[in-house]
Amino acid sequence: MKSKILRALGHADGYVSGQELSGMLDVSRTAVWKVINQLKEEGYEIESVPRKGYRILSRPDVVTKEAVASRLETKWAGRQICSLPTVDSTNNEAGRLAENGALEGTLVLAEEQTGGKGRRGRSWMTPAGSAVAMSLILRPDIPPSRASMLTLVMGLAVADACRSFCGVDAKIKWPNDIVADGRKICGILTEMSSEIDYIRHIIIGAGINTKVEQFPEELKKTAVSLHEITGERPDRAGLIAACMQQFEQYYEIFLKKQDLSLLKDAYNERLAGIGGTVSVLGTQEQYSGISEGIDEMGELLVRREDGRIETVYAGEVSVRGIYGYV
Ligand code: BTN
Repeated sequence: MKSKILRALGHADGYVSGQELSGMLDVSRTAVWKVINQLKEEGYEIESVPRKGYRILSRPDVVTKEAVASRLETKWAGRQICSLPTVDSTNNEAGRLAENGALEGTLVLAEEQTGGKGRRGRSWMTPAGSAVAMSLILRPDIPPSRASMLTLVMGLAVADACRSFCGVDAKIKWPNDIVADGRKICGILTEMSSEIDYIRHIIIGAGINTKVEQFPEELKKTAVSLHEITGERPDRAGLIAACMQQFEQYYEIFLKKQDLSLLKDAYNERLAGIGGTVSVLGTQEQYSGISEGIDEMGELLVRREDGRIETVYAGEVSVRGIYGYV
């Protein structure tokens, strides 16, 4: 009921009367009034004017189930939400839920992660209240070899959400970082539980720095918060809902061909450093070339000086712009 009331107040231009809300939800006006009071206690600023009704003035920056659900317009992405004040890792929690049969589209959120995971065994910091930590459960009927492309689909979704919701010129650093002003605002970690030819589930976790006050010394040059860029603290619930909205659309497009052929133009439009010189640090060799963008399998195409096009596979190499992190 909380999220329905929040949604109704959020959509209204002005006041919504207690009578309208009670009719809409089929509960008494006293029940509505009680929920409004609970919301006020949770930090929502709601004005109540006799004979006019209720009007929402401001929302607290929280990632509760109600806060996110009241903003969602999706069909399935994020329609089931598990939101926790603290957790080891939202990816771990999503994995546990998936093992117990959670549906595709189930979203796990947390205010704080105590054992957040980055790629390649690194750790990921999510101090309470200062970032988005979200993990989405998927059960696609695709070969396991295609699963890594879903990281790119989420990257595209997060970049678009940062643009549309926060007005930030977000770009993608292939394959799975989102950057703005040359520094990282989001990292994505995709994990899979599969048999050789069958995916049990995939967890896509994204961590977005919304207002991390202090990055550790080693990240100061390469990480940034959305707040630092825009001067405003983004409303995390709204940002999460925007990510789910974009992801749902892109994922459905991805599934049509089970590759990125229908999404690669959009991805390349947002790709940092496209057309510029990149340095590829492979296990065997290191070389420079011009980034030509991704192909339909999500691999990066790099044109070497002699004109040969190299196909760079995610995971095998590290790609750097010639002038640094991006
Ligand atoms: C990286 O850039 O190394 C990937 C970072 C991924 C972090 C997110 S935060 C939500 C989810 N839970 C985790 O433990 N990790 C991912």
